Amino acid sequence: MIAEKIRVALDERSYDIEMGAGNLDRIGSLCREVGLSGTAAVVSNTTVAPLYYETVRLSMERAGYRVVPVTLPDGEGYKNSATLNLIYDGLVDASLDRGSFILALGGGVIGDMAGFAAASYLRGIPFVQIPTTLLSQVDSSVGGKTGINHPRGKNLIGAFYQPKAVLIDVATLDTLPEREFLSGLGEIVKYGAVLDGGFFDFLETNAKLLLARDKEALIQAVSRSCAIKAKVVAEDEREGGVRAVLNYGHTLGHAVETLTGYTRYLHGEAVAIGMVQAARISQHYGFCSQADRERIEALVVALGLPTELPSFPARQYREALSHDKKVRDKGLLFICNQGIGAYRMERLTDLGALLEICGIGE
Ligand SMILES: NC(=O)c1ccc[n+]([C@@H]2O[C@H](COP(=O)([O-])OP(=O)(O)OC[C@H]3O[C@@H](n4cnc5c(N)ncnc54)[C@H](O)[C@@H]3O)[C@@H](O)[C@H]2O)c1
Ligand SMILES: [Zn+2]
Repeated sequence: MIAEKIRVALDERSYDIEMGAGNLDRIGSLCREVGLSGTAAVVSNTTVAPLYYETVRLSMERAGYRVVPVTLPDGEGYKNSATLNLIYDGLVDASLDRGSFILALGGGVIGDMAGFAAASYLRGIPFVQIPTTLLSQVDSSVGGKTGINHPRGKNLIGAFYQPKAVLIDVATLDTLPEREFLSGLGEIVKYGAVLDGGFFDFLETNAKLLLARDKEALIQAVSRSCAIKAKVVAEDEREGGVRAVLNYGHTLGHAVETLTGYTRYLHGEAVAIGMVQAARISQHYGFCSQADRERIEALVVALGLPTELPSFPARQYREALSHDKKVRDKGLLFICNQGIGAYRMERLTDLGALLEICGIGE
């Protein structure tokens, strides 16, 4: 069942996101429809491949493609140059030429690495994303950011490289661990809170259905999220301006991830905390009402996500927030919610005051 198609409009780099429930076996036809030929290397990992590789292989072979698997170890810790080299090895071993392409089958880690391999192998071969986590379906599969981590920082090596198509099957979310699923919902709340008030209402009304992974509700939530992100990305492909709105909840969220060494919280959990705090800050400066702030907090709670900053001294938060020189010179570019469904970007220079609003003292 195909339910939705979202166009990501980027001139000659435009592509469609096809969305449904139980549509994974459409991948072969979809690759034909976008004009791909040759061999398909399916880059996946040891968790996702046993679940979904076979469906993908059969569909691709039915459509007349030769398919080779490239199966990587699972985990953010493997999003590095050594694993990237394993992908290149797989592509070279299978003699992939410029008339071939990559399918990225997995979450954001696989999507980012496989996308970067596609951007760089033979100076670029086409690729198609099949995101299988909620987070990757609503976030990393839209926008064309690809890359790997460096020992000194996350996502330091990479490229903007757009896929030829994205296929989203929300039925693949049935096998996703609960915490990963909830973490993806955090990123979805972001789109409603600062970019679409009607969508925020939808999330409030359908929270229970979403938690039960109801397919119709998920298709709605994922497609509206992709449409919102696609619109932002179309206006600002390379992140010079408006795309910064997508950092809502991320400024403090990243600080939380840094301070806890990326082990205690999943990304969407840290973002959930960051959003609740951003709403507090927005209320403090009069950009939203108390009722707005309470709605954001209540939705985050209803979706089983955390709201409170872990306890560290303000000094450590300040360090985590101001590691880059731009922040030290000009202050923090902070995304506030303007009511619900709109935003404003504020340059905040007094980090101590900001942290105090969030209940973090010296
Ligand atoms: N490119 C972008 O714009 C962008 C945006 C956001 C995040 N990211 C990146 O995405 C990564 C995080 O992505 P993620 O949250 O998807 O994590 P992930 O890729 O690590 O996936 C989470 C876990 O779920 C497993 N999994 C995936 N699909 C599954 C399924 N259907 N059933 C069962 N298990 C499944 C994975 O193997 C993994 O163990 C980070 O590296 C982040 O930097 C990129
Ligand atoms: Zn995020």
